[in-house]
Amino acid sequence: MRNRSSIFVRSMVAYWCWIVGAASGIAVRVIGAKRLQWISKRVPMEYLFWRNLGIVAAVAIFAWKARGRLGCSQLFDRTHTKWDIRKAVPLERRMVYDNGLGQTPLMGWSGWNFYECTINEKIVYGNMDALVRLDLPSYGYNYVIVDDCWSAYKRDKEGNLRSDKKTFPSGMKALADYAHERGMKFGLYSDAGRMTCKCHRAASEGHEFRDARTFASWGIDYLKQRFHLRNGATPPRNSCRYPVMSEALNKSGRPIFYAMCEWGEDHPAVWAGKYANSWRTSLDVKDRWPRIELLADDNNLWASYAGPGGWNDPDMLQVGNGRMSLAEYRSHFSIWSIMKAPLIIGCELRTITKEHLEIYKNTEIIAVNQDSLGIQGRKVSRIGQSEVITSCLTLTKLCVTTQVWAGPLSGDRIVMAAWNRGWKRALITINWYDIGLEPSVTASVRDLWKHEDWTQRQKDGFEVEIDSHDCGVYILSNISMVELYFNSGR
Ligand code: GLA
Repeated sequence: MRNRSSIFVRSMVAYWCWIVGAASGIAVRVIGAKRLQWISKRVPMEYLFWRNLGIVAAVAIFAWKARGRLGCSQLFDRTHTKWDIRKAVPLERRMVYDNGLGQTPLMGWSGWNFYECTINEKIVYGNMDALVRLDLPSYGYNYVIVDDCWSAYKRDKEGNLRSDKKTFPSGMKALADYAHERGMKFGLYSDAGRMTCKCHRAASEGHEFRDARTFASWGIDYLKQRFHLRNGATPPRNSCRYPVMSEALNKSGRPIFYAMCEWGEDHPAVWAGKYANSWRTSLDVKDRWPRIELLADDNNLWASYAGPGGWNDPDMLQVGNGRMSLAEYRSHFSIWSIMKAPLIIGCELRTITKEHLEIYKNTEIIAVNQDSLGIQGRKVSRIGQSEVITSCLTLTKLCVTTQVWAGPLSGDRIVMAAWNRGWKRALITINWYDIGLEPSVTASVRDLWKHEDWTQRQKDGFEVEIDSHDCGVYILSNISMVELYFNSGR
């Protein structure tokens, strides 16, 4: 008996040493193995009992106090980010980079999400043909973009960029011509450092004006530019790297859409409008639900900085790459569209399924994205866990997590999305209150995924049931008294 209790005491001591010191090894090193053994023989059971009880009580008190922030009891708290429709007029917008491009968010195709560095010209030609065969340019997807890994590791003898002979033997001008002949535009990737990000090929630092001239001579219509210090670049802040290429492109004699890509590191939304037509606001997109949630939340923060000529970019679309469900892809496409994100198809088009193509071809959702008002929709209310907690803790995913996103559209209309980010089908309430409308206001509603007008006008909001990870998108129109709301504040 004595033996057994002594083993118990020893193991308890070792356990607590581990908790406190991260590992018992540390304790042994600090206290010494012999002394530890001595302590473990003499620690009375009662002491351990009362100490453990104390710890359990402290944890329980902490959990009780923090329940509003951490637990499911938060389910029924509404968190409003009240959005006032009276302020929903285009900002006297900034400092726009005035190359006349990007009046609406860019639409197109890029092979990066699917192929990364295994891209080659056969794939690009094949996908250009598929774009045409699937009639996607007439839906607006007209930029064909080749991301990283097209350029050779070294410049030519004159110091010019050139394509990789093995993977792009025809050269980039031939590809651009092919796109132009089919009524599309053509884009490339470069880096503001000395080497490109993924495969360390020649990039533009110190060669900006030369490269911009090369791009123009090839007929390039779009340039995505990444910058990372790991690429061996000299280390000014990101905000110092891009103006050079911006000026170089402006002087190249060809209008080239400039897409900055610095992962939101220096909060580009607040300064990039002067230099670029779009700027990435966060990390790379992945074909994974938590990443979609994260990018949407990050991009949402910068909503007020986006507008015609300069857009927040939460990265390309993953619809069709197969790791998320149709509901999740619908949400991804809906929220990107409402956020006025560039809609760049990121899957292999030669083998795309009918269901995925249908998502890309939802003309009503595309029209939201391309609306002439160009105001980024944003999250106006949420119920449930904060996004970080939802993404991190599996258990809390069982809780309800629903959100409403909204934004104004031309013609005194409002688009609203009911997004169910939880694991269960949920009832989502859309309140006029969340968008600054009086409860007495009435409106007609159209469901953009079901392509249906509702027969009854709605007053003070409405409720919809949405499947887990799915998203309903609705347009409010013929809003009574809307003149009052839209006109005041202009
Ligand atoms: C960065 C960008 C990606 C892609 C890669 C290419 O990581 O964020 O979108 O362009 O560079 O290396």
